[in-house]
Amino acid sequence: MTEAAKPIRVALLGCGTVGTQIVRLLTEQADDLAARVGAPVELAGIAVRRANKPRPGVPAGLLTTDAAGLVTRDDVDVVVEVIGGIEPTRDWLLTALKAGKSVVTANKALLAEHAGDLFAAADATGADLYFEAAVAGAIPLLRPLRESMAGDRITRVMGIVNGTTNFILSAMDETGAGYAEALDEASRLGYAEADPTADVEGYDAASKAAILASIAFHTRVTAGQVHREGITGVTAADVAAARALGRTIKLLAICERVEAGGDRPGEAVAVRVHPAMIPRSHPLAGVNGAFNAVFVEADAAGQLMFYGQGAGGAPTASAVLGDLVAVARNRVVGGRGPRESAYADLPVRPIAQAATRYHISLDVADRAGVLAAVAAVFAQHEVSIAAVRQEGRSSDASLVIVTHSAPDAALRSTVDKIAGLPFVHDVVSVMRVEGEEL
Ligand SMILES: NC(=O)c1ccc[n+]([C@@H]2O[C@H](COP(=O)([O-])OP(=O)(O)OC[C@H]3O[C@@H](n4cnc5c(N)ncnc54)[C@H](OP(=O)(O)O)[C@@H]3O)[C@@H](O)[C@H]2O)c1
Repeated sequence: MTEAAKPIRVALLGCGTVGTQIVRLLTEQADDLAARVGAPVELAGIAVRRANKPRPGVPAGLLTTDAAGLVTRDDVDVVVEVIGGIEPTRDWLLTALKAGKSVVTANKALLAEHAGDLFAAADATGADLYFEAAVAGAIPLLRPLRESMAGDRITRVMGIVNGTTNFILSAMDETGAGYAEALDEASRLGYAEADPTADVEGYDAASKAAILASIAFHTRVTAGQVHREGITGVTAADVAAARALGRTIKLLAICERVEAGGDRPGEAVAVRVHPAMIPRSHPLAGVNGAFNAVFVEADAAGQLMFYGQGAGGAPTASAVLGDLVAVARNRVVGGRGPRESAYADLPVRPIAQAATRYHISLDVADRAGVLAAVAAVFAQHEVSIAAVRQEGRSSDASLVIVTHSAPDAALRSTVDKIAGLPFVHDVVSVMRVEGEEL
């Protein structure tokens, strides 16, 4: 570092769970950061909603409620955004990028809808746009996909990217609790927000899946194009059925390179978020509590797994600081980080064409001909059966069927038909299956 190195001045938008930790790390590690960047990194201002809220460790003189004014200040080089939400954050970040400020953000909802606009604004002025913390918190994932694997061809990204739902499903698996009880426990321990909708309905995971798919397949994918199912319908019976088969249930985000299908030649991208049974021997099955893990498959690299804390103030701040060092260094030495890479522009396969394997658990009368009749309904709907297990329990029996990959619509009509058969007492569980065949 030359003595005259001009400081890199940072506008911090938001000083809550993550922002407070960013302020702490910027202060505690000021000397190391300066050495890594080649110039001191200084806070120019901190935008918050409530100026008078007590914030121990945060310099009061830097606080402002004027985020719009802060992002365009002449003495600001980089804007770090940890407020969240789409508006007015989107507007502030577009303004910052258009003014030539580089942006680091943890905002998955924004990136999953408006990455195109933000990258275009960054391109217009040569600014950087980094967002490692938007997916899987502390886990270095986007940079490996964007940079380390830039020479490879990624075929699949599959992972657990939402800690709240993973905590709930882990609790259901460990204790046999129902969904509502496990959600209460997650709220009590601070793992679920007062309004858990974004997490439990899969919106948060869908945003992350869209970002992952966009980067992995060099194609713009938005959250609305992701097939999304949450965990609110997962029952204790589903979890017990999984356990009986040596499986567990996880909310998975799955991004795949697939055949376009129909009359379209070539490849497409399929992106889905839903609960699924996976074998207990699968590495993702051992990811419990609020942790995240993501599996990546690529032609040359083979299989890679990324694991760690997917949320929390300090872990998320770690990812933000990593990005901040990168963009600050780019300012000091000149040059830019990676831009949007959407050149492949693959079609996103329509949700209606989603096909997965299913596990169906039925309570049926224990008498001759039941299995054949059930199998006939599957055949009528062209849903092929991979495995069947029947266990008698005095007058009734448990019948478990695992299908080969089947379109959603065919599976739904099969189950509707079966539910109406006179000897079927109950459809106990219908759940997607991922991982190897039973
Ligand atoms: N928390 C995590 O574990 C985590 C993990 C990964 C990514 N993220 C992402 O990081 C971002 C921040 O999350 P967080 O948990 O730190 O949120 P948070 O604790 O709710 O903090 C939000 C901050 O933004 C400020 N703010 C809200 N509206 C504002 C406005 N209109 N103008 C100025 N400031 C405003 C708030 O000000 P006041 O302090 O005055 O209320 C607060 O300081 C979100 O995009 C989130 O998705 C969070």
